[in-house]
Parts: sequence; structure tokens; C-alpha cells
Amino acid sequence: MKQTLSDLAIFGGNPAFAQPLYVGRPNIGDRQKLLERINNMLDRRWFSNNGPYVQEFEQAIAAYLGVKHCIAICNATVALEIAIRALGMTGEVIVPSFTFIATPHSLQWQQITPVFCDVDPKTHCLDPRKVESLITPKTSGIIGVHIWGTPCAIEELTEICQRRNLRLLFDAAHAFGCSFGETMIGNFGDAEVFSFHATKFINSFEGGAIVTNNDELAKKIRLMTNFGFAGYDEVIYIGTNGKMSEASAAMGLTSLESMDEIIAANHRNYQTYQTHLKDLPGLQLFQYPEQHRQNYQYIVLQLNAQLAGLHRDELQRLLWAEQITARRYFYPGCHRMEPYRSYFPHAYLLLPETETLVQQTLLLPNGTTLSQSDVETICQLINFIFANAADISTRLQREAHD
Ligand SMILES: Cc1ncc(COP(=O)(O)O)c(C=O)c1O
Repeated sequence: MKQTLSDLAIFGGNPAFAQPLYVGRPNIGDRQKLLERINNMLDRRWFSNNGPYVQEFEQAIAAYLGVKHCIAICNATVALEIAIRALGMTGEVIVPSFTFIATPHSLQWQQITPVFCDVDPKTHCLDPRKVESLITPKTSGIIGVHIWGTPCAIEELTEICQRRNLRLLFDAAHAFGCSFGETMIGNFGDAEVFSFHATKFINSFEGGAIVTNNDELAKKIRLMTNFGFAGYDEVIYIGTNGKMSEASAAMGLTSLESMDEIIAANHRNYQTYQTHLKDLPGLQLFQYPEQHRQNYQYIVLQLNAQLAGLHRDELQRLLWAEQITARRYFYPGCHRMEPYRSYFPHAYLLLPETETLVQQTLLLPNGTTLSQSDVETICQLINFIFANAADISTRLQREAHD
């Protein structure tokens, strides 16, 4: 427990934690079950090419989501590239800038221009009211991103795409296990893409999946994922290698079996953060909408420096010194990263909400490796920092000048 400013690790005190706490630390699930699966895989000598674990993983996901087709992919970035291509997107596609860089890169990688649209400050997802004015004769589609697992204006975007004859893809990298009302994410748009990267709440080391209810599209995606092979020697389509390995599927299946436990741990931590981070000036904890199912993976702080008397980056430095590796997310915004910064130097003028979010958001650790007492310690520390925000900020600035 910190009593004075000098107790803060940044000013020479002992760090609150002996070992670093990370955002996105992998959940493992039942280690024994994973090792059993890996052993079986080795015995079978079937490591890739639509092996039994990949098939089982795909069936488990499709059944859980109530979606017709699931194609497991080596990661979500390649999954996005394949889905974009299979949907025939060309020219320009509207995307948020407040997302991971893989979303626009998966377009630009195939010479499709990402057109950045601003987000709704409440949901952090694409603002459908701002989408329509960005549609041009070159626009072929929209990619909505369910940031933090929050459904991205599904009804509004679906309506716009139907009316304007555009393809609709959702980047659901964050949203496995989440719903829009009673319907699981995975059932919307022309297709949706999940990530099972190690940092996601369900992981397959590296991995992703494309899900769709469209039979034709699913067929095309399967061909594309495996070089266009329709049979042993028969290639009938241009394709790539997007296949998931058996080792990844073994981890994915093991992870799926622990899903309820992981969500319960995330939810419990989220509620503790909620209880202890109330009423701090200028600090908001992102509130998950009650009417949808959530995986509660992301603990998202938004900090208004003027009201708090402390900048987000100062809070981050303070927490890092305490071994809490809180992370800025999507900073400085995709539109301020290359090549987009050079292509569209004035993009920020149309992205005021994005510009604010990238300056204000900070993510805290969550997951099964975090205990209740860890969360309480983090919250106590943040409360102490806020109670002394002005003095801390002054001292940090003075020390930066010395
Ligand atoms: C919103 C979003 N889209 C796409 C990706 C890419 O996923 P992957 O790492 O599986 O390629 C991520 C990964 O973190 C993401 O957060």
C-alpha cells in the first residue's frame, strides 16, 4: 500500500508486483488435455491439411455459434485477406481507424484502399451515421470491427449495405463468445472473422476462423485457403496457404473447453475493477452493454487528462514502473501509421472521436492468471495516483526537465 509519493516505484519505491502483469497474457486451459492431444497428433503423424483436430475445431465453433460454415485459418489477418478476396471487394472499403492495423492492412495488401471512418464514442465501433457520406462509386464494401467484443452497429450497417449493394464483412477478432441480443456474433454480414491469437481469450497459439451462412462463399473460401485445390491434382482457383495446423487446433479445442471458466474469471475481474474504479475524476471504465453476451476480455480505461490532472501516458509510465504493463490500444490510430499517414495526411480531420480515443485509452490486465487481490492492488494504486494526480504530474514533469 502506497502512503507517500516516494512509495511509487517511479520515484524510487518498491514496485507493487514482483513479476510483470500483462495485458493479453495467454490462458492455457487444461494442460494435461493439451499434451494428450499433441501426443495423439504426433502418433497420427497428421500435422496439417485439414486434420481431425481442425475438423473438430471447425465443427465445435459452428455448432456453438449456430452458423453453417466455419473455416479455420492460420491467423485472423490472413482470414481477413481471404474473406475480402472471396467477397470480391475492390476499389475502396470503409473501415474504422480505431482498430488493429491488420484491418486496413488486409485491404491495402491487395491494393484495396481503406477509407477511414470515425467511431461512436459510446461503443468505440464504426459510427454508421458517418459511413454513408464516405461511399463513392468505387466503394465495394464495409468492414465493421466489433471492438472489445461490442457489436458494431450491425442493423444499421446491414441496412446501408443492402440499400447500396455493398459487401459487409465483420472483423470479429475480439468478439468470440459475444452476442448481438440472442444471436451469436458470427452470424452477421456476408462473413465474420475471429482471431485465436495467443492474446485472445480463446487461443490456438496463432489462429483465426471465417464463419458464414453463405454456402457458395464458404466453398470459395475453402478453396482459397488451400491453394485452390479441389482434389489431389486439381487446382481450380487462385489460392493461398491459410490452413490452420493440427497443433493450433489442439490448443483451440483445449481452450474452448475452458471457455466458461475464462469468461467467469474475466467477468469477476471486470466487476472488481468496476467497483473500485468508480467516481475518479476524468476516468471512465468502458461499460459492456448489458443486453449482449460478452467475453469481458478487455478492461478499457478512458482518461481525460484535463479532468484527471494527469495524462494517460503518465498513468501508463507510473503503472509500468509498478510492473503493471498497461497498454495503449491502437495508438496513434491506423491513419497515423504507414502507409496511410503518407497516403492520407489529412485523414485526422474527419476522425475527431478516433483522435480522442487513441490519446485517452489504456488497457489493464485481465484473464485467468490475475487474482482478485491483484485486481484490488491495481485499483488501490490507481486510486492513490488519482488522489495525488496534480502533485505526481508536476513531479514527473519536473524530473523530465532535470
Ligand atoms: C481488431 C483486430 N483485427 C485483426 C487482428 C489480427 O489477428 P491475428 O493476430 O490473428 O492475425 C487483431 C489481432 O490482434 C485485432 O485485434
